[in-house]
Amino acid sequence: MTTVDSFNANLLEDYREYPGGKWWIAELVLDCLIRNGLQRHHRLVDVGCGPLRIGKHLIAFLDARCYTGIEPEASMLEAGLANELSGELRALQHPSFLTEQLGTTRLAADWALAWDVFNHLSADQLRMALTTITADNWLLNVHVGEVHRTIPKDGEGWSYRYADAKAQVYTQASLESLVRDAGYELRVLLTFPSGWEGFPFSVLRLMRLAP
Ligand SMILES: C[S@@+](CC[C@H](N)C(=O)[O-])C[C@H]1O[C@@H](n2cnc3c(N)ncnc32)[C@H](O)[C@@H]1O
Repeated sequence: MTTVDSFNANLLEDYREYPGGKWWIAELVLDCLIRNGLQRHHRLVDVGCGPLRIGKHLIAFLDARCYTGIEPEASMLEAGLANELSGELRALQHPSFLTEQLGTTRLAADWALAWDVFNHLSADQLRMALTTITADNWLLNVHVGEVHRTIPKDGEGWSYRYADAKAQVYTQASLESLVRDAGYELRVLLTFPSGWEGFPFSVLRLMRLAP
């Protein structure tokens, strides 16, 4: 896989800054998931779970063995496990973790979550995720703008070691077409400013179409 030439290595110095700070966002994401039908017994894959900013709440909410986190940046996942999740909760809930890039293992789940992930990866990566993780529902957020474009090198936005882009901006039409080709129907749940002026986030729910 192509990776960006340089990544923000300084992000690794503070695991709480690594996912972009704003740990309170977990409340919004959890609310979105539950309002859209997430139930305790559902199996959920948390793609690019990082240091468990959202994962720690999901692990507590879901039944035992229902949470799987995928994260290639091992030290950030380990920091989350050491500092954000008690040993008792981990032993009780048996979450699973795959320390690898998305696309490495084929997975099936009721829900897949990719929060603040596909704004950093290319459209090809989103396509690959939707075809290697078969979920009845996805919740994700992406930048939407006037032009479909990937910012590969020195553009604005974070850069992660395992990302193949710094930022991906979709148009509504390019999103709809990608999602439909992967076998999903798209619903825009909400739109909010991203901190990158002119490129708001759309929060999307994808629902798998009958084969
Ligand atoms: C902005 S952080 C979001 C973390 C987490 N989803 C959250 O909201 O707290 C983006 C995450 O995507 C991960 N990531 C980057 N490239 C990836 C890849 N190819 N496969 C899986 N995860 C990746 C990063 O390591 C990082 O943890």
